[in-house]
Amino acid sequence: MSTPLSAGSAGAPWQISTRQPLRGKIALVTGGSRGIGRAIVLALAAAGADVVVNYRVSREMAEAVAACAARDGVRALPFQADVTDEAAVQRLFAMVGETFGRLDVLVNNAGVMTQFRLEEVTAAEWDRTIATNLRGVFLCCRAASALLPRGGRVINIASQLAHAGAAELTHYCASKGAVLLFTRALAREWGPRGITVNAVAPGPVLTDLTRPYADEAWIAMKTADLALGRMGTPEEVAQTVVFLCTTAAALYTGQSLNPNGGGAMM
Ligand SMILES: NC(=O)c1ccc[n+]([C@@H]2O[C@H](COP(=O)([O-])OP(=O)(O)OC[C@H]3O[C@@H](n4cnc5c(N)ncnc54)[C@H](OP(=O)(O)O)[C@@H]3O)[C@@H](O)[C@H]2O)c1
Repeated sequence: MSTPLSAGSAGAPWQISTRQPLRGKIALVTGGSRGIGRAIVLALAAAGADVVVNYRVSREMAEAVAACAARDGVRALPFQADVTDEAAVQRLFAMVGETFGRLDVLVNNAGVMTQFRLEEVTAAEWDRTIATNLRGVFLCCRAASALLPRGGRVINIASQLAHAGAAELTHYCASKGAVLLFTRALAREWGPRGITVNAVAPGPVLTDLTRPYADEAWIAMKTADLALGRMGTPEEVAQTVVFLCTTAAALYTGQSLNPNGGGAMM
Protein backbone atom coordinates (compact mmCIF):
# COMPACT_ATOMS: atom_id res chain seq x y z
CA MET A 1 0.00 0.00 0.00
CA SER A 2 1.39 3.44 -0.90
CA THR A 3 0.35 6.73 0.71
CA PRO A 4 2.19 10.07 1.14
CA LEU A 5 3.37 8.67 4.48
CA SER A 6 4.99 5.66 2.85
CA ALA A 7 8.26 7.55 2.54
CA GLY A 8 8.96 6.20 6.07
CA SER A 9 11.01 3.05 6.57
CA ALA A 10 9.40 -0.35 6.08
CA GLY A 11 7.70 -1.56 9.26
CA ALA A 12 7.12 1.96 10.63
CA PRO A 13 4.38 2.01 13.31
CA TRP A 14 1.85 3.75 11.07
CA GLN A 15 2.20 0.98 8.52
CA ILE A 16 1.59 -1.69 11.12
CA SER A 17 -1.49 0.10 12.38
CA THR A 18 -2.78 0.51 8.80
CA ARG A 19 -2.49 -3.18 8.10
CA GLN A 20 -3.37 -4.26 11.62
CA PRO A 21 -5.79 -1.65 12.95
CA LEU A 22 -6.25 -3.57 16.22
CA ARG A 23 -2.54 -3.93 17.03
CA GLY A 24 -2.09 -3.65 20.82
CA LYS A 25 -5.77 -4.38 21.57
CA ILE A 26 -6.82 -7.24 23.82
CA ALA A 27 -9.86 -9.26 22.70
CA LEU A 28 -11.79 -12.18 24.14
CA VAL A 29 -14.08 -14.37 22.05
CA THR A 30 -16.43 -16.77 23.83
CA GLY A 31 -16.96 -20.01 21.92
CA GLY A 32 -13.83 -19.38 19.86
CA SER A 33 -13.01 -23.03 19.23
CA ARG A 34 -15.28 -23.63 16.25
CA GLY A 35 -17.48 -22.11 13.57
CA ILE A 36 -18.14 -18.37 13.60
CA GLY A 37 -16.19 -17.85 16.85
CA ARG A 38 -13.09 -19.45 15.31
CA ALA A 39 -13.35 -17.14 12.29
CA ILE A 40 -13.73 -14.13 14.60
CA VAL A 41 -10.61 -15.11 16.57
CA LEU A 42 -8.58 -15.45 13.38
CA ALA A 43 -9.90 -12.20 11.90
CA LEU A 44 -9.15 -10.25 15.10
CA ALA A 45 -5.65 -11.75 15.21
CA ALA A 46 -5.10 -10.87 11.54
CA ALA A 47 -6.11 -7.32 12.46
CA GLY A 48 -3.41 -7.37 15.15
CA ALA A 49 -5.33 -8.03 18.38
CA ASP A 50 -4.15 -10.36 21.14
CA VAL A 51 -6.95 -12.88 21.63
CA VAL A 52 -8.30 -15.09 24.41
CA VAL A 53 -9.99 -18.13 22.85
CA ASN A 54 -12.70 -19.30 25.21
CA TYR A 55 -14.24 -22.76 24.81
CA ARG A 56 -16.41 -25.11 26.83
CA VAL A 57 -15.22 -28.63 25.89
CA SER A 58 -13.24 -28.46 22.61
CA ARG A 59 -9.79 -27.96 24.12
CA GLU A 60 -7.79 -29.32 21.18
CA MET A 61 -9.73 -27.20 18.70
CA ALA A 62 -9.28 -24.08 20.83
CA GLU A 63 -5.55 -24.77 21.10
CA ALA A 64 -5.33 -25.19 17.32
CA VAL A 65 -7.20 -21.90 16.77
CA ALA A 66 -4.87 -20.12 19.20
CA ALA A 67 -1.80 -21.57 17.46
CA CYS A 68 -3.17 -20.43 14.11
CA ALA A 69 -3.90 -16.93 15.48
CA ALA A 70 -0.39 -16.66 16.95
CA ARG A 71 1.05 -16.89 13.43
CA ASP A 72 -0.09 -13.28 13.02
CA GLY A 73 2.41 -12.28 15.70
CA VAL A 74 -0.18 -11.81 18.44
CA ARG A 75 -0.62 -13.45 21.84
CA ALA A 76 -3.41 -16.05 21.69
CA LEU A 77 -4.51 -17.95 24.78
CA PRO A 78 -7.08 -20.75 24.91
CA PHE A 79 -9.10 -20.77 28.15
CA GLN A 80 -11.82 -23.18 29.24
CA ALA A 81 -14.95 -21.72 30.83
CA ASP A 82 -18.62 -22.59 30.55
CA VAL A 83 -20.26 -19.18 30.04
CA THR A 84 -23.35 -20.34 31.94
CA ASP A 85 -21.24 -20.95 35.07
CA GLU A 86 -20.83 -17.80 37.18
CA ALA A 87 -17.68 -18.98 38.97
CA ALA A 88 -16.07 -20.15 35.73
CA VAL A 89 -16.78 -16.81 34.06
CA GLN A 90 -15.22 -15.02 37.03
CA ARG A 91 -12.08 -17.19 36.64
CA LEU A 92 -11.95 -16.41 32.92
CA PHE A 93 -12.01 -12.65 33.44
CA ALA A 94 -9.68 -12.82 36.43
CA MET A 95 -7.15 -14.52 34.14
CA VAL A 96 -7.62 -11.75 31.55
CA GLY A 97 -7.06 -9.11 34.22
CA GLU A 98 -3.93 -10.82 35.59
CA THR A 99 -2.46 -11.52 32.14
CA PHE A 100 -3.33 -8.37 30.21
CA GLY A 101 -4.55 -5.83 32.79
CA ARG A 102 -7.54 -4.80 30.65
CA LEU A 103 -9.90 -5.98 27.89
CA ASP A 104 -10.57 -3.82 24.82
CA VAL A 105 -12.94 -6.11 22.94
CA LEU A 106 -15.44 -8.64 24.27
CA VAL A 107 -17.19 -10.80 21.68
CA ASN A 108 -20.05 -12.82 23.18
CA ASN A 109 -20.32 -15.52 20.54
CA ALA A 110 -20.86 -18.80 22.45
CA GLY A 111 -24.26 -20.18 21.57
CA VAL A 112 -26.39 -23.27 21.13
CA MET A 113 -29.34 -24.00 18.87
CA THR A 114 -31.74 -26.91 18.60
CA GLN A 115 -34.84 -27.18 16.45
CA PHE A 116 -38.11 -28.36 18.03
CA ARG A 117 -41.78 -27.54 17.68
CA LEU A 118 -42.94 -25.58 20.74
CA GLU A 119 -44.77 -28.60 22.16
CA GLU A 120 -41.50 -30.58 22.07
CA VAL A 121 -39.31 -27.99 23.79
CA THR A 122 -38.58 -29.41 27.22
CA ALA A 123 -38.11 -27.04 30.13
CA ALA A 124 -34.53 -28.30 30.36
CA GLU A 125 -33.84 -27.43 26.72
CA TRP A 126 -35.45 -24.00 27.16
CA ASP A 127 -33.25 -23.36 30.23
CA ARG A 128 -30.05 -24.58 28.50
CA THR A 129 -30.70 -22.34 25.50
CA ILE A 130 -31.46 -19.25 27.55
CA ALA A 131 -28.55 -19.99 29.92
CA THR A 132 -25.99 -20.22 27.13
CA ASN A 133 -27.29 -17.58 24.74
CA LEU A 134 -28.51 -14.96 27.24
CA ARG A 135 -27.26 -15.62 30.79
CA GLY A 136 -23.77 -16.19 29.33
CA VAL A 137 -23.85 -12.75 27.67
CA PHE A 138 -24.96 -11.14 30.94
CA LEU A 139 -22.33 -12.95 33.05
CA CYS A 140 -19.51 -12.11 30.62
CA CYS A 141 -20.49 -8.44 30.27
CA ARG A 142 -20.75 -8.06 34.04
CA ALA A 143 -17.39 -9.73 34.61
CA ALA A 144 -15.76 -7.67 31.83
CA SER A 145 -17.04 -4.34 33.12
CA ALA A 146 -14.08 -3.52 35.39
CA LEU A 147 -11.60 -4.42 32.63
CA LEU A 148 -13.13 -2.41 29.77
CA PRO A 149 -11.44 0.95 29.24
CA ARG A 150 -12.89 4.04 27.51
CA GLY A 151 -13.05 3.04 23.83
CA GLY A 152 -13.90 -0.56 24.75
CA ARG A 153 -16.12 -2.59 22.44
CA VAL A 154 -18.70 -5.24 23.27
CA ILE A 155 -20.13 -7.27 20.41
CA ASN A 156 -22.93 -9.75 21.02
CA ILE A 157 -23.60 -12.35 18.34
CA ALA A 158 -27.38 -12.50 17.95
CA SER A 159 -29.12 -13.88 14.84
CA GLN A 160 -31.25 -12.77 11.94
CA LEU A 161 -33.90 -14.94 13.58
CA ALA A 162 -33.93 -12.47 16.50
CA HIS A 163 -35.45 -10.00 14.07
CA ALA A 164 -37.51 -12.28 11.87
CA GLY A 165 -38.47 -15.23 14.10
CA ALA A 166 -38.70 -18.78 12.78
CA ALA A 167 -40.91 -21.81 13.29
CA GLU A 168 -39.53 -24.58 15.51
CA LEU A 169 -37.02 -22.16 17.00
CA THR A 170 -39.08 -20.29 19.62
CA HIS A 171 -36.58 -20.96 22.41
CA TYR A 172 -33.62 -19.91 20.26
CA CYS A 173 -35.39 -16.82 18.87
CA ALA A 174 -36.44 -15.78 22.38
CA SER A 175 -32.84 -15.99 23.60
CA LYS A 176 -31.45 -14.02 20.66
CA GLY A 177 -34.24 -11.44 20.69
CA ALA A 178 -33.43 -10.79 24.34
CA VAL A 179 -29.76 -10.36 23.41
CA LEU A 180 -30.76 -7.54 21.03
CA LEU A 181 -32.61 -5.62 23.73
CA PHE A 182 -29.89 -6.36 26.30
CA THR A 183 -27.46 -4.85 23.77
CA ARG A 184 -29.50 -1.68 23.34
CA ALA A 185 -29.96 -1.24 27.09
CA LEU A 186 -26.28 -1.79 27.92
CA ALA A 187 -25.26 0.60 25.13
CA ARG A 188 -27.21 3.32 26.95
CA GLU A 189 -25.73 2.34 30.33
CA TRP A 190 -22.11 2.20 29.16
CA GLY A 191 -22.28 4.99 26.57
CA PRO A 192 -21.20 7.60 29.15
CA ARG A 193 -18.11 5.44 29.78
CA GLY A 194 -17.19 5.63 26.08
CA ILE A 195 -17.84 1.92 25.57
CA THR A 196 -19.89 0.80 22.58
CA VAL A 197 -22.18 -2.23 22.71
CA ASN A 198 -23.49 -3.68 19.46
CA ALA A 199 -25.02 -6.87 18.14
CA VAL A 200 -24.11 -8.76 15.00
CA ALA A 201 -27.07 -10.74 13.69
CA PRO A 202 -25.96 -13.19 10.99
CA GLY A 203 -28.21 -15.01 8.59
CA PRO A 204 -27.69 -18.77 8.09
CA VAL A 205 -24.09 -20.00 8.09
CA LEU A 206 -22.98 -23.61 7.71
CA THR A 207 -21.30 -24.65 11.00
CA ASP A 208 -21.61 -27.47 13.53
CA LEU A 209 -24.63 -25.54 14.88
CA THR A 210 -26.65 -25.79 11.67
CA ARG A 211 -25.09 -28.88 10.05
CA PRO A 212 -27.44 -31.39 11.76
CA TYR A 213 -30.38 -29.70 10.01
CA ALA A 214 -28.71 -28.49 6.82
CA ASP A 215 -29.94 -30.91 4.19
CA GLU A 216 -30.81 -29.61 0.72
CA ALA A 217 -34.41 -28.77 1.66
CA TRP A 218 -33.33 -26.87 4.82
CA ILE A 219 -30.76 -24.82 2.91
CA ALA A 220 -33.29 -24.05 0.17
CA MET A 221 -35.82 -22.93 2.81
CA LYS A 222 -33.27 -20.80 4.69
CA THR A 223 -31.96 -19.07 1.57
CA ALA A 224 -35.26 -18.65 -0.31
CA ASP A 225 -36.01 -15.18 1.07
CA LEU A 226 -32.42 -13.93 1.04
CA ALA A 227 -31.71 -11.30 -1.60
CA LEU A 228 -28.32 -12.91 -2.35
CA GLY A 229 -29.85 -16.40 -2.30
CA ARG A 230 -26.98 -18.00 -0.41
CA MET A 231 -25.76 -18.70 3.11
CA GLY A 232 -23.00 -16.58 4.60
CA THR A 233 -19.58 -17.81 5.67
CA PRO A 234 -18.04 -17.55 9.15
CA GLU A 235 -15.35 -15.30 7.66
CA GLU A 236 -17.93 -12.83 6.31
CA VAL A 237 -19.55 -12.57 9.73
CA ALA A 238 -16.12 -12.13 11.32
CA GLN A 239 -15.37 -9.13 9.09
CA THR A 240 -18.44 -7.34 10.49
CA VAL A 241 -17.07 -7.93 14.00
CA VAL A 242 -13.66 -6.56 13.03
CA PHE A 243 -15.32 -3.48 11.54
CA LEU A 244 -17.13 -2.82 14.83
CA CYS A 245 -13.76 -2.90 16.63
CA THR A 246 -12.17 -0.25 14.41
CA THR A 247 -12.22 3.52 14.79
CA ALA A 248 -14.44 3.63 11.68
CA ALA A 249 -17.25 2.22 13.84
CA ALA A 250 -16.81 4.65 16.75
CA LEU A 251 -20.32 6.08 16.34
CA TYR A 252 -22.12 2.73 16.26
CA THR A 253 -23.68 1.67 19.53
CA GLY A 254 -26.88 -0.08 20.53
CA GLN A 255 -27.18 -1.28 16.93
CA SER A 256 -27.59 -4.58 15.19
CA LEU A 257 -25.44 -5.09 12.12
CA ASN A 258 -26.91 -7.81 10.00
CA PRO A 259 -24.61 -9.81 7.69
CA ASN A 260 -27.44 -11.94 6.35
CA GLY A 261 -27.45 -11.77 2.56
CA GLY A 262 -30.50 -9.54 2.53
CA GLY A 263 -32.84 -11.43 4.83
CA ALA A 264 -36.36 -10.37 5.70
CA MET A 265 -36.70 -8.25 8.88
CA MET A 266 -40.38 -8.35 9.63
N1 LIG B 1 -24.45 -20.84 12.26
C1 LIG B 1 -25.46 -20.00 12.04
O1 LIG B 1 -26.20 -20.15 11.03
C2 LIG B 1 -25.71 -18.84 12.94
C3 LIG B 1 -26.57 -17.83 12.50
C4 LIG B 1 -26.82 -16.75 13.34
C5 LIG B 1 -26.23 -16.69 14.58
N2 LIG B 1 -25.39 -17.68 14.98
C6 LIG B 1 -24.77 -17.54 16.31
O2 LIG B 1 -23.37 -17.49 16.17
C7 LIG B 1 -22.74 -18.03 17.33
C8 LIG B 1 -21.74 -19.10 16.92
O3 LIG B 1 -22.47 -20.12 16.26
P1 LIG B 1 -21.75 -21.25 15.39
O4 LIG B 1 -22.66 -21.54 14.27
O5 LIG B 1 -20.35 -20.91 15.13
O6 LIG B 1 -21.83 -22.47 16.44
P2 LIG B 1 -20.90 -23.75 16.67
O7 LIG B 1 -20.11 -24.04 15.45
O8 LIG B 1 -21.80 -24.80 17.21
O9 LIG B 1 -19.88 -23.26 17.81
C9 LIG B 1 -20.40 -22.94 19.06
C10 LIG B 1 -19.27 -22.42 19.94
O10 LIG B 1 -19.85 -22.01 21.19
C11 LIG B 1 -19.14 -22.66 22.23
N3 LIG B 1 -20.04 -22.90 23.37
C12 LIG B 1 -21.26 -23.49 23.39
N4 LIG B 1 -21.76 -23.50 24.63
C13 LIG B 1 -20.83 -22.90 25.41
C14 LIG B 1 -20.76 -22.60 26.79
N5 LIG B 1 -21.75 -22.93 27.63
N6 LIG B 1 -19.66 -21.97 27.25
C15 LIG B 1 -18.64 -21.63 26.43
N7 LIG B 1 -18.65 -21.89 25.11
C16 LIG B 1 -19.74 -22.51 24.61
C17 LIG B 1 -18.61 -23.96 21.64
O11 LIG B 1 -17.51 -24.41 22.42
P3 LIG B 1 -17.04 -25.98 22.38
O12 LIG B 1 -16.40 -26.15 21.01
O13 LIG B 1 -16.09 -26.12 23.47
O14 LIG B 1 -18.29 -26.79 22.51
C18 LIG B 1 -18.22 -23.47 20.25
O15 LIG B 1 -16.95 -22.84 20.28
C19 LIG B 1 -23.87 -18.53 18.21
O16 LIG B 1 -24.19 -17.56 19.19
C20 LIG B 1 -25.02 -18.70 17.25
O17 LIG B 1 -26.27 -18.62 17.87
C21 LIG B 1 -25.10 -18.75 14.20
